Amino acid sequence: MRVITVANQKGGVGKTTTAINLGTALAAVGRRVLIMDCDAQGNASTGLGVEPGARDKSTYDVLVGEGTMREAILPTKVPNLDIIPGDENLAGVETMLHNDPRKNFKLKEAFEVFRATGDVYDTVLIDCPPSLSTVTVNAMVAANAVLVPLQCEFLAMEGLSQILRTIELVRSGLNPNLEVQGVVLTMYDKRNNLSDQVANEVRTYLGSKVYQTVIPRNVRLSEAPSFGLPAILYDHKCTGSEAYIMLAQELMQRERERAAA
Ligand SMILES: Nc1ncnc2c1ncn2[C@@H]1O[C@H](COP(=O)(O)OP(=O)(O)OP(=O)(O)O)[C@@H](O)[C@H]1O
Ligand SMILES: [Mg+2]
Repeated sequence: MRVITVANQKGGVGKTTTAINLGTALAAVGRRVLIMDCDAQGNASTGLGVEPGARDKSTYDVLVGEGTMREAILPTKVPNLDIIPGDENLAGVETMLHNDPRKNFKLKEAFEVFRATGDVYDTVLIDCPPSLSTVTVNAMVAANAVLVPLQCEFLAMEGLSQILRTIELVRSGLNPNLEVQGVVLTMYDKRNNLSDQVANEVRTYLGSKVYQTVIPRNVRLSEAPSFGLPAILYDHKCTGSEAYIMLAQELMQRERERAAA
C-alpha cells in the first residue's frame, strides 16, 4: 500500500481536484484506491457524492482516536474507490491534540493498525487542507511520498519553496523516508504567457520531479464536483479528464521504475 499525500499550503491550487481525479483514474485501471479527506471543508467528500449526513465517522475521529480507519471508510459511486470523509470537526484537531506528545503521529499510528488488519488498498491519496497545520504534518508523517499540485501563477515559486522546506523538515525528523512523488502543474492556460513562464521556471528548478503531464484550466473540472462526480465520470473526454488519466499513467510508470530500482 503506497500512501501519497497531496499537499500545498496555498489554497485553491487543485489539491482536491487532483486527489479525486487521479484517484478515479487509478481506480479505473483496477487499482484499489482510498481517498482520505483531511480538510474541514470536506470538498473531496462532497465532490465524490458523499453527503454531509452520510459521514458517520470522519478523518477527525481517526486523528483523535475516536474511530479506526476501517470504521470510517465509505464506498463511492466509483468502483474500486473508497473514501474516509472529512468534516468541519477537523478544524478542531489542532486544539484537541495541543498537549499530546504524539500529536504528529496520529495518522501514522492509525495506518499501522489498518495495515495490520489485512486487506488494504494499493494506493491511498490524502487530500490536505490549505495550511501547514498539525493535520498536514500528520499526513506527511503517515505518507511514503508527497505530491504537490502547483498552480501556474504569479508567486508560484515562493509557495513551492515553502512546501519543499516543510517536506525537508519532516524528512529531517519525523519521517526520514518521505519522498517527493512529484510536482504537477495545474490550471495551465496556454493563452497566458505567465503559465509558460512558471512552467519553465519550475522545470528548470526541479527537473524530472515535475510531471510531463500538465493539467489545463478546464471548466468541466470545476463543474463536476457540483454533481458529486469526478470529472472523469462527468465528462471523460474533456481536456481536464484526459490530463488526469495521463497523469495517472505517468505516476504508475514512475512507481514501476522506482520498484525496479
Ligand atoms: N484545472 C482546473 N481548471 C479549472 N478549474 C479548476 C481546475 N482545478 C481546480 N479547479 C477549480 O478551482 C477551485 C480550487 O480547486 P481545488 O478545490 O481542487 O483546490 P484545493 O487546492 O483543493 O483548494 P483548497 O486549498 O481550498 O482545499 C475549485 O473550484 C475547482 O473546481
Ligand atoms: Mg481542497
